[in-house]
Amino acid sequence: MAILKVARLGHPVLRQNALPVPADEIRSPETQRLIDDMVETMREYNGAGLAAPQVHVLKQICVIEVNKNPRYPEAPGIPLTVLINPVLSPLSEEMEDGWEGCLSVPDMRGMVPRYTATRLDAYDREGRRIEGEAKEFFARVIQHETDHLHGMVYLDRMRDLSTLTHLAEWNKHWLGVQEQDD
Ligand code: NI
Repeated sequence: MAILKVARLGHPVLRQNALPVPADEIRSPETQRLIDDMVETMREYNGAGLAAPQVHVLKQICVIEVNKNPRYPEAPGIPLTVLINPVLSPLSEEMEDGWEGCLSVPDMRGMVPRYTATRLDAYDREGRRIEGEAKEFFARVIQHETDHLHGMVYLDRMRDLSTLTHLAEWNKHWLGVQEQDD
């Protein structure tokens, strides 16, 4: 396994559309190695998730895991989840504001509105279909990661930039400030 280089805001790869992974390539050694490397990279940098375009690969793959993450001490846990070709369909118009950060936008936080519940269709790393509903924090994380597969970052989803905060200032002034219901 290897720790991959993470593209930062400004690298054009973050603004491109990733391509779906063909079903017969999901179990290929190349895809499996990429997934393993993405998991290792996410863990190395304490990401809550990582999408393939962030490691310069334009494929619709993302990995998610939250387990006592020092970058997100208040976040609920999410077991390791690999999503391939994810498609989200919000279950209602209801949105909620919450803090987000991104390994491609280092040392920043911003308040981002996201749908509170969404349908999720995807494949796992074995090529099995995932069909389900995601709520609250997990719904937020998959919206963030799926955006990366379509050339978007969380800054594009912010209603305004007044909450965009350097992490050191966030820890001083915003830690524990409640999320606002929309
Ligand atoms: Ni991100």
